[in-house]
Amino acid sequence: MLANIIVWLVLLAVAVAAGYGVWRAWHLRRPALKWSATPLAGLLTLILVLFVVLIGVGIVKAYTPRGNPVVERTVESTPERVARGEHIARVLCSSCHSLVSGELPMSGGKDVLADTGIPFGVATAPNLTPGGRIDEWSDGELQRVIREGTYPNGHLMTIMSSQTFRVFSQEDLDSIVSYLRSQPAVESAEEPKQSLTPLAMAMLTLGAVPVKPVPDPEVPPAVQRGPTAEYGGYIAGFIDCALCHGDDLSGGTEPFLPLGPNLVTVKSWTAEQFIDTMRTGVSPTRGPLDPDEMPWESFGLLDDDELTALYEFIKSVR
Ligand code: HEC
Ligand code: HEC
Repeated sequence: MLANIIVWLVLLAVAVAAGYGVWRAWHLRRPALKWSATPLAGLLTLILVLFVVLIGVGIVKAYTPRGNPVVERTVESTPERVARGEHIARVLCSSCHSLVSGELPMSGGKDVLADTGIPFGVATAPNLTPGGRIDEWSDGELQRVIREGTYPNGHLMTIMSSQTFRVFSQEDLDSIVSYLRSQPAVESAEEPKQSLTPLAMAMLTLGAVPVKPVPDPEVPPAVQRGPTAEYGGYIAGFIDCALCHGDDLSGGTEPFLPLGPNLVTVKSWTAEQFIDTMRTGVSPTRGPLDPDEMPWESFGLLDDDELTALYEFIKSVR
């Protein structure tokens, strides 16, 4: 945070100096010099001002306290909840919070920004066992972190908050918390590394690092589990198929994200073909799917009912 503010102040100072340069250039006596230097200095000032605004707005977005008030609750852990939470963690959270997707406990993962090839900074998915800092957070604070991406101190969780965990029902949130707390405590080697560069701040402003607005404080009602389109919609919501496949799964358009194809093709498949595709990563239409682009290895861990539900859901929207 401090480093970004310092960079911003330096940029602001340079922009002011460049602005003064425009004024000086405009008052040069020799017309040739005046008419060549003024536009150049003007252009430089404009670019600098643009960055000052983009980075400044991003800093305000990232560090202004936000979020719904913490709803204090004490989650009662039951074997069913731990099992359900473990299933969700394996399918959904371990791809980032473990070094190997699908592997538990989640003692810390990779830097999810490492492969972007753009200097956005570092965002290492932290240790989520009781050996990490979640142990210091109440159940209510932890659920707010997961549901809306607001840290206990009110700061925005920049990278993960773009996930759609706000659709989770209260029962699933309780299950996730029960599971996280049931893991063996693995000590963190060091503090989780998370530092975003001024460029990432500018991207926050531009929306290229997507930040979802604070959700409704009301947790949505639970959807009956089963192989139905409605339950499939719930799963597609928390896994966020639309992130890469676009609204209504009609094809992705987001920059910096894999461009998922229009899923209308699934309509011509049987449920078995769809389940096979999600488990083997080989599509009847496209052949092998790149697991770095389409995370089928994690999604294939969904059970038969859940995958059938997804199939029914895709057919109902496309
Ligand atoms: C796309 C990768 C990704 C996925 C998937 C993901 N996380 Fe995260 N998570 C992160 C990153 C990165 C951070 C660090 C904060 C940031 O920069 O967003 C984080 C931070 C957290 C934190 C804060 C922990 C701390 O010590 O600061 C919690 C709690 C958390 N995640 C829970 C979950 C749960 C539960 C799931 C699954 C339902 C999940 N995450 C799925 C990437 C991910
Ligand atoms: C991180 C981005 C991403 C997410 C999230 C994602 N997909 Fe994909 N998906 C892709 C990409 C990219 C491809 C094309 C991959 C290729 O051709 O190698 C793809 C391909 C597919 C295909 C094969 C389509 C065809 O025509 O053969 C299916 C089916 C599919 N995805 C279903 C889903 C479902 C269901 C979800 C949510 C549970 C989902 N995807 C979430 C990126 C994603």
